Amino acid sequence: MMINLKGRNFLTLLDYSPEEIRYLLDYATILKENKKHGRTFDLLKGKNIVLLFEKTSTRTRSAFEVAGYDEGAHVTFLSNSQFGKKESVEDTAKVLGRIYDGIEFRGNKQETVNILAEESGVPVWNGLTDEYHPTQALADLLTIQEHFGNLKHKKVAFVGDTRNNVANSLMIACAKLGIDYAGVGPEELSPDKKILEQAKKIATESGSEIIITSDIAKGVENADVIYTDIWVSMGEEDKIAERINLLLDYQVNQDLMDKTGKDTTIFLHCLPSFHDNKTTFAQMVEDKFGISEMEVTDEIFNSDQSLVFDQAENRLHTIKALICATLAEEPNRIFEKYEKTN
Ligand code: CP
Ligand code: NVA
Repeated sequence: MMINLKGRNFLTLLDYSPEEIRYLLDYATILKENKKHGRTFDLLKGKNIVLLFEKTSTRTRSAFEVAGYDEGAHVTFLSNSQFGKKESVEDTAKVLGRIYDGIEFRGNKQETVNILAEESGVPVWNGLTDEYHPTQALADLLTIQEHFGNLKHKKVAFVGDTRNNVANSLMIACAKLGIDYAGVGPEELSPDKKILEQAKKIATESGSEIIITSDIAKGVENADVIYTDIWVSMGEEDKIAERINLLLDYQVNQDLMDKTGKDTTIFLHCLPSFHDNKTTFAQMVEDKFGISEMEVTDEIFNSDQSLVFDQAENRLHTIKALICATLAEEPNRIFEKYEKTN
């Protein structure tokens, strides 16, 4: 039977079955192909979507906006509202739920996105919290699937701050889809025990392996994907000295890539990335700590193995699939239309 996600929230990948995640990847693949051929189907015609941002964004905001516009929705970007200042999450949720058909939230607490979902009565999509970044994981999976042709028996090694939002969602995504996952970083930055236990339990069911290790050689051995993220997430900038100290040995460079033992390994990064000194923050780090590359060297970031911009583009197609699947009146019309046009 065809999967139907109409009306569902997207708060964490823990709420989605492997079949539902695969369905979203298939959906995104069709939408991507459609866009390439200039085909859109007004799947979101008449829908109004609001994007509520507490934290900054380039990709997530752009992807949600263009995804909505491409399929006929109207989109509001709300970054300077009463929310969090004069109005509670509950009241904001009730108001936005009366006006909009779907809500995207990016911010600090996972609890906020949960309350928005409970109180608004419309689908709510998590565009990043301190704990999770599930729409990022969809784009990551699509990029890996496109490159290798499938996700079977692949190994992903996330190197660096293995307890951050991107790593948490990637670990859960891998566990769900039977991909081996290694979190490679210092013990001080190990994942939250509860999230790790949940991922390990899911991995047992899917037949994959989850390991967390501080041993780089062991962690990256045989990896098909080396993934990293910035050393200080949004809101943690004051921890930079401590993170440099903990993570410098875990920089993704040629030496680390060689340790996979494979010449087919790809490099992924959710972006933004500190691979050079071309930002004010990176310049401050260079002046103060004398390093001009942080989590990844410029060489690896710009190498043929690096698929970071394909991955960034895939944010659009996967987010569009998510909005259409959860909000369109007839979400599965896309599969019939695809059959007819191909
Ligand atoms: N990867 C990602 O979420 O990018 P933005 O912070 O630019 O949205
Ligand atoms: N871990 C990063 C991801 C940015 C997309 C952050 O939270 O800032």
